[in-house]
Amino acid sequence: MAIPGNHKEPQDLHVAIIMDGNGRWATRQGKPRFMGHQAGAERVREIVKVAPEYHISTLTLFAFSSDNWQRPTSEVEFLMRLFHSHLLSEIGECADNGIRLQFIGRRDRLNPALVTLMRQAEAKTAKGENLLLRAAVDYSSREAILQAAQRIRPNQPVSKKQFSRLLCGADPLHAAPADVDLLIRTGGEQRLSDFLLWECAYAELYFTHTFWPDFDKAALQKAMEEFHRRERRFGRVLQTIQT
Ligand code: IPE
Ligand code: IPE
Ligand code: MG
Repeated sequence: MAIPGNHKEPQDLHVAIIMDGNGRWATRQGKPRFMGHQAGAERVREIVKVAPEYHISTLTLFAFSSDNWQRPTSEVEFLMRLFHSHLLSEIGECADNGIRLQFIGRRDRLNPALVTLMRQAEAKTAKGENLLLRAAVDYSSREAILQAAQRIRPNQPVSKKQFSRLLCGADPLHAAPADVDLLIRTGGEQRLSDFLLWECAYAELYFTHTFWPDFDKAALQKAMEEFHRRERRFGRVLQTIQT
């Protein structure tokens, strides 16, 4: 349904996903947690591939939260190695398929070799126009908001758009992302866990009990169908009931 002032084209959606439930997926099958993370990485591949079919132009994935450092060292180290090897194997394919990679979150606590790879991935895919794929690594939304607020000069008013730009860091390669249209959280929890608090101001929220390693194309389709059934009002009164 058309919303006055909402000129967004349907092919221009920003979807964000909290990819949760890897550990429980593995535990339920009597497997160690790391196997859930491995299976989760495979799902990332699949969902990224089909995203443009659903008119998603920006996909932001929560890969590792700043609070996830508090997990056992062995799990953290496994996740970092998995991220590194997954990225290494996917850069070429992303570049070939017009996928532009960007990373949000802190980089100063990551392994320098990983940071170098992330920078290379961003540079090599910078011309991609089919999908902007943003991975949130060592990411905390409140931290990002604090950092952005500290970059505002005293007595210099900033617009919401400028602030959104500040939120993705100081990197000039980073474009200002659109607000999130749909936030999906897998794994059954109904919370934001410090993810995109500013960007989700008017996002539609979709929670599913499906664990991330089971979240396939059909599950994404179901989420997108639900999204298109939602009536987005942005605080206004719909034209059809205004008379
Ligand atoms: C999400 O799955 C992946 C990361 C947080 C890195 P979890 O590892 O949180 O899986 P559960 O929630 O314990 O099942
Ligand atoms: C959120 O999941 C972070 C990621 C999916 C990367 P968590 O499993 O860390 O969140 P909580 O602890 O359930 O809030
Ligand atoms: Mg979890």
